[in-house]
Amino acid sequence: MKVSEAVYSRQSIRAFTDQEVPDSLIQELLEKSSRAASGGNLQPWKIFIINNSTMSKFLKFQEEWTDPETPAYDIYPENLTEPYKTSRYEVGAQMYSILEIGREDKEGRFKQMLENFKFFGAPSAFFCFVDRQMGRPQWSDLGMFLQTFMLLALEAGLDTCPQEAWAIKQESVTSFVKAPDELMLFCGMAIGYRDKNAKINELRTERRPFKDWATFVD
Ligand SMILES: Cc1cc2nc3c(=O)[nH]c(=O)nc-3n(C[C@H](O)[C@H](O)[C@H](O)COP(=O)(O)O)c2cc1C
Repeated sequence: MKVSEAVYSRQSIRAFTDQEVPDSLIQELLEKSSRAASGGNLQPWKIFIINNSTMSKFLKFQEEWTDPETPAYDIYPENLTEPYKTSRYEVGAQMYSILEIGREDKEGRFKQMLENFKFFGAPSAFFCFVDRQMGRPQWSDLGMFLQTFMLLALEAGLDTCPQEAWAIKQESVTSFVKAPDELMLFCGMAIGYRDKNAKINELRTERRPFKDWATFVD
């Protein structure tokens, strides 16, 4: 698979088959992903893998955890301005339209949002943490690592969905994976084989045109 093909065909997948992913494959993909660039070669990613029997244990634990949780961070700026606000709105509208969940159907939308906390049915996942001493430059390194992983996963026939929704469940996640206090949760990553019959996986998101976000300086 060419890099450009992988970049173009990667999409967030939100329904998976039950087909298991061996630990060895996840390890191989993560090790390859660690070739991602990072400022000062700090490699600031800290990864906790949830696979096979651990997945059922985790989902059960998650379901039974009733303590209120403090979010790890604000997922979006409070007063998101344009054009970001519209992009965010459009992806949601597109998704709910594919699923035929109406604008007024708050319960339907909420139910779909909760699918995040089942990893959308993926059999495998990981959580990406970062040391609290790290700042914005190192957080961007996490993004490079995660994108590298998603592309390599695609090459191996797997699909993924990065999930910052887990930020609102950071206390239960931290407790389950036994992450030390100095680490904070950035996001989850659902991993598995896409369910080709699931409508939600038909979602192909838009991108704003080049001229809106790039400038050749003269
Ligand atoms: C860091 C990060 C966190 C994300 N968190 C979520 C999430 O919690 N739930 C979700 O359904 N999608 C999540 N997404 C997926 C985005 O909605 C998706 O990348 C965007 O709409 C573009 O679509 P595409 O990935 O299919 O190209 C996340 C993406 C990134 C990069």
